[in-house]
Amino acid sequence: MNSNIRTAHDIRKSYVDFFLARGHTEVPSAPLVPKGDATLLFTSAGMVQFKDYYLSPENLPYTRAVSVQKCLRAGDLESVGKTLRHHTFFEMLGNFSFGDYFKHEAVEWAWEYVIDVLQLPPERLYVSIFEDDDEAFGIWNEKIGVPAERIVRLGRKDNFWGPVGKTGVCGPCSEIYYDAGETKGCGSSGCAPGCDCDRYLEFWNLVFPQFVLEEDGTYRPLEKPGIDTGAGLERIAMIMQGAEDNFHTDIFQPLVDAVVGLLPGGTDMTGEAKLGINMIADHA
Ligand code: ALA
Repeated sequence: MNSNIRTAHDIRKSYVDFFLARGHTEVPSAPLVPKGDATLLFTSAGMVQFKDYYLSPENLPYTRAVSVQKCLRAGDLESVGKTLRHHTFFEMLGNFSFGDYFKHEAVEWAWEYVIDVLQLPPERLYVSIFEDDDEAFGIWNEKIGVPAERIVRLGRKDNFWGPVGKTGVCGPCSEIYYDAGETKGCGSSGCAPGCDCDRYLEFWNLVFPQFVLEEDGTYRPLEKPGIDTGAGLERIAMIMQGAEDNFHTDIFQPLVDAVVGLLPGGTDMTGEAKLGINMIADHA
């Protein structure tokens, strides 16, 4: 990478500074156990502390926010260790708009940060959009200049996000992927962004909250749509540090080393043992 951004600390700071310069208010990470929210056991995304802001974006202390949110996802528990990119606990970089800016700015700023600040090579990048979101396609393709063959249309499973819990704000999303190279891939002919293997690493999710899912199952359009983004700190650290996987970044390596240090000499650290070490580092 050409930029000097390497450590997790560099990444957090450059991200927050970038969005502060674009009119966002920095909001501290909320507690892992959400306060006053009986619908959620844990904070699973940056938007959790702002959930209600999307519903009525009037009289808010700010309409643009940036945060580095500590998250816990019990739903990813079974993937930890099996993939090299899932964690139960992780940090999510997020910029948010509550009835303020929408798709154009969210896409433009994400790309500007990725290309100008992180200086990731565009030839390694792909984006996905929700299947029929032609507006997002137009922004990526015509405005940003991402070639059509690098824009993948994916369905609800991948590209419609939310709500957290049973009801609440949700909407189509668009994701940015980094091609970690063929050696990380599953080798199947259909391997592409959206594949479950470790090759195409989804590191940034731009959600366009446009609906509220009601208890009766209806999707009510929000009066003013917003923006909810989430970029994975550990995944960006892996990319910026050229690390083999998330467990070899400055975030996890000390934990992995500590676990290894407790094992008897001569322990075989490959295969199942390696997965176990990674799982303990994750849970720790
Ligand atoms: N809320 C979105 C996510 O968690 C950004 O992926």
